[in-house]
Amino acid sequence: MKAPISGHTLSLAMRTAYVTGAASGIGRATAHRLATDGFAVFATDIDEAGGIETVAQIEAAGGTASFVRCDVTNADACRALVAQILDAHGRLDVAVHNAGIEGPVLPLAALDPDAFRQVFEVNVMGVVHGMQAALGTMVEAGQGSIVNVASVAGLNGFPFHAPYATSKHAVVGLTRTAALEVARTGVRVNAVCPGFTDTPMVDDGLQKMGQTLEQLTRRIPARRLGHPDEVAAAIAYLASAAAAYVTGHALALDGGLDAG
Ligand code: NAI
Repeated sequence: MKAPISGHTLSLAMRTAYVTGAASGIGRATAHRLATDGFAVFATDIDEAGGIETVAQIEAAGGTASFVRCDVTNADACRALVAQILDAHGRLDVAVHNAGIEGPVLPLAALDPDAFRQVFEVNVMGVVHGMQAALGTMVEAGQGSIVNVASVAGLNGFPFHAPYATSKHAVVGLTRTAALEVARTGVRVNAVCPGFTDTPMVDDGLQKMGQTLEQLTRRIPARRLGHPDEVAAAIAYLASAAAAYVTGHALALDGGLDAG
Protein backbone atom coordinates (compact mmCIF):
# COMPACT_ATOMS: atom_id res chain seq x y z
CA MET A 1 0.00 0.00 0.00
CA LYS A 2 1.34 3.49 -0.88
CA ALA A 3 2.10 5.88 1.96
CA PRO A 4 -0.73 8.40 2.40
CA ILE A 5 -0.08 11.70 0.69
CA SER A 6 0.07 14.53 3.18
CA GLY A 7 0.56 18.27 3.54
CA HIS A 8 1.25 20.23 0.36
CA THR A 9 0.99 17.15 -1.88
CA LEU A 10 -2.51 16.41 -0.55
CA SER A 11 -3.81 19.74 -1.79
CA LEU A 12 -2.50 18.98 -5.31
CA ALA A 13 -3.81 15.41 -5.56
CA MET A 14 -7.13 14.86 -7.34
CA ARG A 15 -10.12 14.97 -4.98
CA THR A 16 -11.88 11.63 -4.66
CA ALA A 17 -15.48 10.60 -4.12
CA TYR A 18 -17.29 7.30 -3.93
CA VAL A 19 -20.96 6.72 -4.64
CA THR A 20 -22.76 3.54 -3.58
CA GLY A 21 -25.57 2.26 -5.78
CA ALA A 22 -24.03 4.06 -8.76
CA ALA A 23 -25.27 1.61 -11.43
CA SER A 24 -28.66 3.29 -11.75
CA GLY A 25 -30.88 6.28 -11.08
CA ILE A 26 -29.79 8.86 -8.51
CA GLY A 27 -26.43 7.15 -7.86
CA ARG A 28 -25.49 7.16 -11.54
CA ALA A 29 -26.51 10.83 -11.91
CA THR A 30 -24.47 11.70 -8.81
CA ALA A 31 -21.38 9.88 -10.10
CA HIS A 32 -21.69 11.86 -13.35
CA ARG A 33 -22.12 15.16 -11.53
CA LEU A 34 -19.18 14.64 -9.16
CA ALA A 35 -16.95 13.67 -12.12
CA THR A 36 -18.03 16.88 -13.88
CA ASP A 37 -17.08 18.77 -10.70
CA GLY A 38 -13.54 17.34 -10.97
CA PHE A 39 -13.58 14.39 -8.59
CA ALA A 40 -12.01 11.03 -9.35
CA VAL A 41 -15.18 9.02 -8.84
CA PHE A 42 -15.43 5.46 -7.52
CA ALA A 43 -18.78 4.16 -8.75
CA THR A 44 -19.79 1.16 -6.64
CA ASP A 45 -22.72 -1.24 -6.80
CA ILE A 46 -23.65 -4.93 -6.74
CA ASP A 47 -24.85 -4.51 -10.33
CA GLU A 48 -21.52 -4.86 -12.16
CA ALA A 49 -22.85 -4.31 -15.68
CA GLY A 50 -24.70 -1.13 -14.65
CA GLY A 51 -21.71 0.17 -12.70
CA ILE A 52 -19.31 -0.45 -15.56
CA GLU A 53 -21.75 1.35 -17.88
CA THR A 54 -21.80 4.37 -15.51
CA VAL A 55 -17.99 4.49 -15.61
CA ALA A 56 -17.94 4.17 -19.42
CA GLN A 57 -20.38 7.09 -19.71
CA ILE A 58 -18.28 9.26 -17.37
CA GLU A 59 -15.06 8.46 -19.22
CA ALA A 60 -16.72 9.17 -22.59
CA ALA A 61 -17.62 12.61 -21.21
CA GLY A 62 -13.96 13.21 -20.21
CA GLY A 63 -14.26 12.42 -16.49
CA THR A 64 -12.24 10.11 -14.23
CA ALA A 65 -14.03 7.10 -12.78
CA SER A 66 -13.56 3.48 -11.76
CA PHE A 67 -16.02 0.74 -10.89
CA VAL A 68 -15.60 -1.18 -7.65
CA ARG A 69 -18.03 -3.95 -6.76
CA CYS A 70 -19.26 -3.25 -3.24
CA ASP A 71 -22.24 -4.78 -1.48
CA VAL A 72 -23.04 -2.23 1.21
CA THR A 73 -24.44 -4.93 3.50
CA ASN A 74 -20.86 -6.19 3.86
CA ALA A 75 -18.81 -4.07 6.29
CA ASP A 76 -15.52 -5.59 5.07
CA ALA A 77 -16.34 -4.66 1.46
CA CYS A 78 -17.00 -1.06 2.51
CA ARG A 79 -13.69 -0.90 4.39
CA ALA A 80 -11.88 -2.44 1.39
CA LEU A 81 -13.41 0.21 -0.89
CA VAL A 82 -12.02 3.03 1.24
CA ALA A 83 -8.64 1.28 1.49
CA GLN A 84 -8.54 0.96 -2.31
CA ILE A 85 -9.27 4.68 -2.76
CA LEU A 86 -6.58 5.67 -0.24
CA ASP A 87 -4.13 3.30 -1.89
CA ALA A 88 -4.75 4.85 -5.32
CA HIS A 89 -5.08 8.54 -4.38
CA GLY A 90 -4.06 8.99 -0.74
CA ARG A 91 -7.28 10.85 0.11
CA LEU A 92 -11.03 10.47 0.44
CA ASP A 93 -12.99 13.71 0.15
CA VAL A 94 -16.61 12.72 -0.43
CA ALA A 95 -18.67 9.62 0.43
CA VAL A 96 -22.19 9.32 -0.96
CA HIS A 97 -24.25 6.53 0.60
CA ASN A 98 -27.02 6.13 -1.94
CA ALA A 99 -27.63 2.38 -2.35
CA GLY A 100 -31.14 1.51 -1.25
CA ILE A 101 -34.12 -0.76 -1.84
CA GLU A 102 -37.83 -0.12 -1.55
CA GLY A 103 -38.87 -3.43 -0.02
CA PRO A 104 -42.44 -4.73 0.04
CA VAL A 105 -45.47 -2.49 -0.40
CA LEU A 106 -48.00 -3.84 2.13
CA PRO A 107 -49.99 -2.73 5.17
CA LEU A 108 -47.89 -2.93 8.33
CA ALA A 109 -50.06 -5.69 9.84
CA ALA A 110 -49.48 -7.91 6.78
CA LEU A 111 -45.67 -7.59 6.76
CA ASP A 112 -43.32 -10.44 7.56
CA PRO A 113 -40.87 -9.09 10.17
CA ASP A 114 -38.04 -10.36 7.96
CA ALA A 115 -39.01 -7.68 5.44
CA PHE A 116 -37.82 -5.09 7.96
CA ARG A 117 -34.53 -6.92 8.46
CA GLN A 118 -33.89 -7.15 4.72
CA VAL A 119 -34.62 -3.48 4.05
CA PHE A 120 -32.67 -2.34 7.14
CA GLU A 121 -29.68 -4.45 6.09
CA VAL A 122 -29.27 -2.37 2.91
CA ASN A 123 -30.81 1.01 3.77
CA VAL A 124 -29.58 1.37 7.36
CA MET A 125 -26.63 -0.99 7.87
CA GLY A 126 -25.34 -0.10 4.38
CA VAL A 127 -25.08 3.53 5.49
CA VAL A 128 -23.61 2.54 8.88
CA HIS A 129 -20.91 0.44 7.18
CA GLY A 130 -20.06 3.25 4.75
CA MET A 131 -19.87 5.88 7.46
CA GLN A 132 -17.75 3.67 9.70
CA ALA A 133 -15.38 3.01 6.79
CA ALA A 134 -15.10 6.67 5.71
CA LEU A 135 -15.17 8.65 8.95
CA GLY A 136 -11.79 7.58 10.37
CA THR A 137 -9.71 8.75 7.43
CA MET A 138 -11.79 11.93 7.02
CA VAL A 139 -11.44 12.89 10.68
CA GLU A 140 -7.70 12.20 10.48
CA ALA A 141 -7.45 14.48 7.43
CA GLY A 142 -9.57 17.14 9.15
CA GLN A 143 -11.86 17.41 6.16
CA GLY A 144 -14.43 15.49 4.15
CA SER A 145 -18.11 15.42 3.37
CA ILE A 146 -20.54 12.54 3.73
CA VAL A 147 -23.92 12.72 2.01
CA ASN A 148 -26.48 10.03 2.85
CA VAL A 149 -29.46 9.51 0.57
CA ALA A 150 -32.52 9.28 2.81
CA SER A 151 -35.97 10.16 1.46
CA VAL A 152 -38.94 12.39 2.12
CA ALA A 153 -40.14 9.11 3.68
CA GLY A 154 -37.40 9.76 6.26
CA LEU A 155 -39.24 12.91 7.33
CA ASN A 156 -42.88 11.80 6.99
CA GLY A 157 -44.90 8.61 7.25
CA PHE A 158 -45.35 6.66 3.99
CA PRO A 159 -48.40 4.35 4.12
CA PHE A 160 -47.79 0.73 3.03
CA HIS A 161 -44.00 1.31 3.07
CA ALA A 162 -43.27 0.75 6.78
CA PRO A 163 -39.82 -0.92 6.39
CA TYR A 164 -38.74 1.71 3.86
CA ALA A 165 -40.02 4.75 5.80
CA THR A 166 -38.59 3.42 9.08
CA SER A 167 -35.21 2.77 7.46
CA LYS A 168 -35.08 6.27 5.97
CA HIS A 169 -35.98 7.88 9.32
CA ALA A 170 -32.99 5.93 10.68
CA VAL A 171 -30.75 7.39 7.96
CA VAL A 172 -31.77 10.90 9.02
CA GLY A 173 -31.05 10.01 12.66
CA LEU A 174 -27.66 8.54 11.77
CA THR A 175 -26.81 11.64 9.74
CA ARG A 176 -27.65 14.07 12.52
CA THR A 177 -25.87 11.98 15.17
CA ALA A 178 -22.67 11.50 13.16
CA ALA A 179 -22.67 15.19 12.19
CA LEU A 180 -22.71 16.21 15.85
CA GLU A 181 -20.01 13.70 16.77
CA VAL A 182 -17.53 15.05 14.19
CA ALA A 183 -18.65 18.70 13.79
CA ARG A 184 -15.53 20.16 15.34
CA THR A 185 -13.17 18.05 13.19
CA GLY A 186 -14.03 19.74 9.87
CA VAL A 187 -15.92 16.70 8.58
CA ARG A 188 -19.55 17.34 7.55
CA VAL A 189 -22.39 14.83 7.37
CA ASN A 190 -25.68 15.66 5.63
CA ALA A 191 -28.60 13.87 4.01
CA VAL A 192 -30.75 14.50 0.99
CA CYS A 193 -34.42 13.55 1.17
CA PRO A 194 -35.71 13.11 -2.37
CA GLY A 195 -39.40 12.89 -3.13
CA PHE A 196 -40.63 10.81 -6.05
CA THR A 197 -37.74 10.82 -8.52
CA ASP A 198 -37.79 9.42 -12.05
CA THR A 199 -35.78 6.19 -11.60
CA PRO A 200 -36.48 2.44 -11.87
CA MET A 201 -37.42 2.47 -8.15
CA VAL A 202 -40.48 4.65 -8.82
CA ASP A 203 -41.48 2.49 -11.82
CA ASP A 204 -41.38 -0.59 -9.55
CA GLY A 205 -43.28 1.24 -6.80
CA LEU A 206 -46.07 2.25 -9.18
CA GLN A 207 -46.39 -1.35 -10.29
CA LYS A 208 -46.54 -2.65 -6.71
CA MET A 209 -49.17 -0.04 -5.79
CA GLY A 210 -51.16 -0.59 -9.01
CA GLN A 211 -51.03 3.19 -9.62
CA THR A 212 -50.52 5.26 -12.75
CA LEU A 213 -47.94 8.04 -13.08
CA GLU A 214 -50.81 10.55 -13.36
CA GLN A 215 -52.29 9.38 -10.04
CA LEU A 216 -48.89 9.77 -8.41
CA THR A 217 -48.07 13.22 -9.79
CA ARG A 218 -51.49 14.53 -8.66
CA ARG A 219 -50.20 14.03 -5.07
CA ILE A 220 -47.06 16.10 -5.70
CA PRO A 221 -47.46 19.90 -5.26
CA ALA A 222 -45.12 20.56 -8.23
CA ARG A 223 -47.18 18.05 -10.30
CA ARG A 224 -44.14 16.24 -11.66
CA LEU A 225 -41.49 13.73 -10.65
CA GLY A 226 -38.05 14.95 -9.66
CA HIS A 227 -35.13 14.25 -11.99
CA PRO A 228 -32.07 12.32 -10.75
CA ASP A 229 -29.88 15.24 -11.90
CA GLU A 230 -31.77 17.53 -9.49
CA VAL A 231 -30.90 15.27 -6.57
CA ALA A 232 -27.31 14.95 -7.84
CA ALA A 233 -27.00 18.77 -7.91
CA ALA A 234 -28.01 18.96 -4.24
CA ILE A 235 -25.57 16.20 -3.31
CA ALA A 236 -22.81 18.04 -5.21
CA TYR A 237 -23.66 21.23 -3.31
CA LEU A 238 -23.54 19.48 0.08
CA ALA A 239 -20.23 17.87 -0.95
CA SER A 240 -18.72 21.21 -1.96
CA ALA A 241 -16.95 24.01 -0.11
CA ALA A 242 -20.05 26.17 -0.76
CA ALA A 243 -21.73 24.11 1.98
CA ALA A 244 -18.81 24.49 4.43
CA TYR A 245 -21.15 25.59 7.25
CA VAL A 246 -23.90 23.03 6.52
CA THR A 247 -23.83 19.90 8.65
CA GLY A 248 -26.44 17.62 10.20
CA HIS A 249 -28.99 18.84 7.65
CA ALA A 250 -31.64 16.74 5.90
CA LEU A 251 -32.47 18.55 2.66
CA ALA A 252 -35.83 17.75 1.04
CA LEU A 253 -35.93 17.74 -2.78
CA ASP A 254 -39.52 16.81 -3.24
CA GLY A 255 -41.53 19.27 -5.32
CA GLY A 256 -43.15 20.54 -2.12
CA LEU A 257 -44.34 17.24 -0.59
CA ASP A 258 -42.75 17.89 2.82
CA ALA A 259 -44.35 21.35 3.01
CA GLY A 260 -47.85 19.84 2.90
P1 NAI B 1 -32.42 2.50 -8.25
O1 NAI B 1 -33.13 1.23 -7.93
O2 NAI B 1 -32.47 3.07 -9.62
O3 NAI B 1 -30.88 2.38 -7.81
C1 NAI B 1 -30.49 1.78 -6.60
C2 NAI B 1 -29.13 1.16 -6.80
O4 NAI B 1 -28.72 0.59 -5.55
C3 NAI B 1 -29.15 0.01 -7.82
O5 NAI B 1 -28.14 0.22 -8.80
C4 NAI B 1 -28.89 -1.24 -6.99
O6 NAI B 1 -28.18 -2.26 -7.67
C5 NAI B 1 -28.08 -0.66 -5.83
N1 NAI B 1 -28.09 -1.53 -4.67
C6 NAI B 1 -29.14 -2.20 -4.12
N2 NAI B 1 -28.73 -2.96 -3.09
C7 NAI B 1 -27.39 -2.77 -2.98
C8 NAI B 1 -26.39 -3.28 -2.12
N3 NAI B 1 -26.69 -4.18 -1.16
N4 NAI B 1 -25.13 -2.85 -2.28
C9 NAI B 1 -24.81 -1.96 -3.25
N5 NAI B 1 -25.70 -1.47 -4.12
C10 NAI B 1 -26.97 -1.87 -3.98
O7 NAI B 1 -33.02 3.53 -7.18
P2 NAI B 1 -32.91 5.11 -7.04
O8 NAI B 1 -34.28 5.63 -7.15
O9 NAI B 1 -31.82 5.70 -7.84
O10 NAI B 1 -32.55 5.17 -5.48
C11 NAI B 1 -31.31 5.60 -4.98
C12 NAI B 1 -31.52 6.02 -3.55
O11 NAI B 1 -32.45 7.10 -3.51
C13 NAI B 1 -32.10 4.92 -2.65
O12 NAI B 1 -31.50 4.98 -1.37
C14 NAI B 1 -33.57 5.31 -2.56
O13 NAI B 1 -34.18 4.83 -1.40
C15 NAI B 1 -33.47 6.82 -2.56
N6 NAI B 1 -34.68 7.50 -2.94
C16 NAI B 1 -35.26 7.31 -4.17
C17 NAI B 1 -36.43 7.96 -4.49
C18 NAI B 1 -37.10 7.81 -5.80
O14 NAI B 1 -38.24 8.29 -5.94
N7 NAI B 1 -36.49 7.21 -6.81
C19 NAI B 1 -37.10 8.85 -3.52
C20 NAI B 1 -36.41 8.97 -2.28
C21 NAI B 1 -35.24 8.33 -2.01
